[in-house]
Amino acid sequence: MKIKSYEKHALLQAKITALRSKDTPPPIFARILHEISLILCADISASLALQSCKVETPLQTTQGFKLRHRLVLIPILRAGLGMLSGFHALLPEAAVGHIGVERDHDTLQPRFYYYKVPPLAGSEIWLLDPMLATGGSLEFALQKILPQKPERVRAVSVIAAPEGIRRIRKKFPQVFLHVGVIDKKLNDHGYILPGLGDAGDRCFGT
Ligand code: PRP
Ligand code: URA
Repeated sequence: MKIKSYEKHALLQAKITALRSKDTPPPIFARILHEISLILCADISASLALQSCKVETPLQTTQGFKLRHRLVLIPILRAGLGMLSGFHALLPEAAVGHIGVERDHDTLQPRFYYYKVPPLAGSEIWLLDPMLATGGSLEFALQKILPQKPERVRAVSVIAAPEGIRRIRKKFPQVFLHVGVIDKKLNDHGYILPGLGDAGDRCFGT
């Protein structure tokens, strides 16, 4: 599995720090998560495969480029929705799928409740979820998606725990992981330390 983390990205780290603060209220949290998503999208999209095409400027015809693969953005509900607006702002032509997975607070096992995605074969898939903790939710989403033979799958998280990274790395070596920052560990309740608390609750004020 390839993994890229953004510890050296100054602006991103400053925004993640603001996101962590317990004093950041939901509307500001949602705005910062949108901004972080713009930064991550700009970086990840820089390495997408291109194909040549012709373009007519007002003066002459010249060589240009377009993205080679169809892109599908898939937020993992709910908290992944907080990342969708930033990614879709830069990639408005991308199709959007939704996967509903919720962790059971006691067992930490993922509970599946919604799945609607466009055809994925041959597409580049970006799974969006700000938190990668035990990795159970992402593993569940990958198990739904990979049998549909996408061209490539990237999972994008803002904060990841080493435990979740290890789990995904072992089971899905073909997946690319992009993480804003890798935190210390999980606590006894499966929350990331230092983390930011519950991303869905903080984004949507629940
Ligand atoms: C959070 C988060 C991830 C998941 C990560 O969602 O957004 O989806 O937990 O934990 P894991 O790696 O241990 O599976 P949650 O289940 O709290 O649902 P929500 O987004 O609806 O609040
Ligand atoms: N989900 C969250 O929202 N936060 C965590 O720390 C772990 C899982």
